[in-house]
Amino acid sequence: MTAFGHAWLDEFPLERHGIYLNHGTVGVTPLAVTRARAAILEAIERHPARYMLRELMRLDASTAAKPADRPRLREAATKIATFLGCAADGLVFVDNATSGICAVLRSLPLAPGDEILLPDHAYGGVARAAAFIARERGATVSTFVLPFPDCTPERVVASVAAAITPRTRVALLDHVTSESALVLPLAAMAAVCRARGIAVLVDGAHAPGAIPVDIEALGVDWYAANLHKWAFAPRACGVLWAAPERRAGLHPTVISWGVTNDDWLSEFDWTGTRDPSPWLAAPAGIAFMEERLGLEAMRAYNHELAWRSATSLAQRWGRAFETPKTMIGCMVSVPLPERLGPGDAANAQRVRDALLFEHGIEVPVLARAEMLWVRLSIQVYNEASDIERLAEAVDAIGLSHASRDRSA
Ligand SMILES: Cc1ncc(COP(=O)(O)O)c(C=O)c1O
Repeated sequence: MTAFGHAWLDEFPLERHGIYLNHGTVGVTPLAVTRARAAILEAIERHPARYMLRELMRLDASTAAKPADRPRLREAATKIATFLGCAADGLVFVDNATSGICAVLRSLPLAPGDEILLPDHAYGGVARAAAFIARERGATVSTFVLPFPDCTPERVVASVAAAITPRTRVALLDHVTSESALVLPLAAMAAVCRARGIAVLVDGAHAPGAIPVDIEALGVDWYAANLHKWAFAPRACGVLWAAPERRAGLHPTVISWGVTNDDWLSEFDWTGTRDPSPWLAAPAGIAFMEERLGLEAMRAYNHELAWRSATSLAQRWGRAFETPKTMIGCMVSVPLPERLGPGDAANAQRVRDALLFEHGIEVPVLARAEMLWVRLSIQVYNEASDIERLAEAVDAIGLSHASRDRSA
């Protein structure tokens, strides 16, 4: 097998000029998966009504073309469930992690005064959705502070334990945080919550593909995730898993025929006419990882390069890098050098724009803990020379920033 690195760009449609260090944001679909999706779209168009109304799922038994067959959507869900360590009757497809999380929060019987607990590193869109839904019910969102940058699994577990109150009803916990790219000790955090009778909803947007996910072993109530980030599914492809006792009363955000069936699978499997090809092609993304890349080899390469890049960049930039190796996966956030200027949102945007427009490097730059951070996503098409190019670009931006300050 070809060693990972730029040679693997042949398998992806990415532009060749420039450097892509942002696989995590919306994923990159391999050419092989796009071809699999195109074949599905062609199969649909050969007889759309039969495919969509009889083969894809069953609204009721009378619509089955071949009753002995499993509907195609359930067949795809079965393959994904195996990959994620859960039974297929607990897993549904949704558009993305956001819609899975909103479905759960909207289905919860929250009462005035109840609290949704989430970390200060929660993804912005998710935190806003939680605040909106809480407000509708007279409930509130309570935010706990993750120990950062100096974090350890033990301190993270202690931070959630200390934040639980008698009003906490549900904890919304990230498996991998977005901006800070921390792999959180989810099973231990969930155990603390459950011991206090609090339900746990996981935001696993960045987990499938990037790190091993064994949903049923985590001891959580719901797990929402994306396959279009690190599991190479076409966009948009999310999943939602619910524990057996959490399925009754769980509704998608769009209500349709299945609502009268008293069966959560049929409710989620049909939310109106839509393009099902990202979901049906998701198993091709799993096959790409397992058969083409090698799942373990891919993860080991990405993790190792992420770790080496973070430690060497931090050293070069005169910054402490305190994240334990066990708390990163294929992404890592590294503090940028102080000479780049203040750790605020406007400066983060300026540096991010300069990296993209002046140096051709796509990578998020974020402001946190009064510093600027760069979040590196490492995928098999990246190699150490990409990180060297980033370091050189940061040097150049730092120089221009310093000379601008001198002339001001
Ligand atoms: C932790 C986390 N949750 C949720 C999301 C939202 O994902 P989507 O837009 O696919 O729903 C993201 C996106 O990057 C994320 O990082």
